[in-house]
Amino acid sequence: MELFIDTASIDDIREIARWGCLSGVTTNPSLIAKEEGGFTAILEEITQLVDGPISAEVVSATADEMVPEARELAALHPNIIIKVPMCAEGLGAARRLADEGIRTNVTLVFSANQALLAARAGASFVSVFMGRLDDIGHDSVAILREVMDAYGNYEITSKVIAASIRHPVHVTQAALVGADIATIPPKVLRQMVRHPLTDAGIKAFNDDWAAVQAAGRVG
Ligand code: E4P
Repeated sequence: MELFIDTASIDDIREIARWGCLSGVTTNPSLIAKEEGGFTAILEEITQLVDGPISAEVVSATADEMVPEARELAALHPNIIIKVPMCAEGLGAARRLADEGIRTNVTLVFSANQALLAARAGASFVSVFMGRLDDIGHDSVAILREVMDAYGNYEITSKVIAASIRHPVHVTQAALVGADIATIPPKVLRQMVRHPLTDAGIKAFNDDWAAVQAAGRVG
């Protein structure tokens, strides 16, 4: 499973990109709203930090408006992926953009049926929102598994992104059902790095090595 970072924070992307694990970035209007600076400037900076798909969302209401908005975003950099909302107008926009060779990420997907529609509309990526499903008492893992199984039945090539990740367990669950990608907030990526046994192990190695040095046994 590939790992994307789910943020528009340049500082977080810069820091975590240095780990060497990231292969893409997802943003949405709410994530952009949390940051300072212009939308286009933020996107252009992100393209300099991560060499992989970078999702930027359109905000128009109709397919006729989404398509020119998407063309402008896509023109910023070859790695920009156009996020369109899962609705009739978004599907129409995804089809027209796919026919133009512009890659899309159909977002706000909460069921296998929505995922099938998105795939058939030519989506390159389909984002299934785990956290928001769990929030309303649905089983996000079961729904993600249905999407993976349905796509597998028909050799659908749209990549499934496990999104709305709230904690490290979601990441493991997404990997176990075979999601192609998890897009993960910086806080959860930092949680994934740490383990108390790793911290204790590093401390023990450092303490033991200090004793070796103190005894003049280096070299
Ligand atoms: C990613 O593409 C989504 O926009 C994001 O994961 C949504 O997460 P949230 O449900 O925590 O807002």
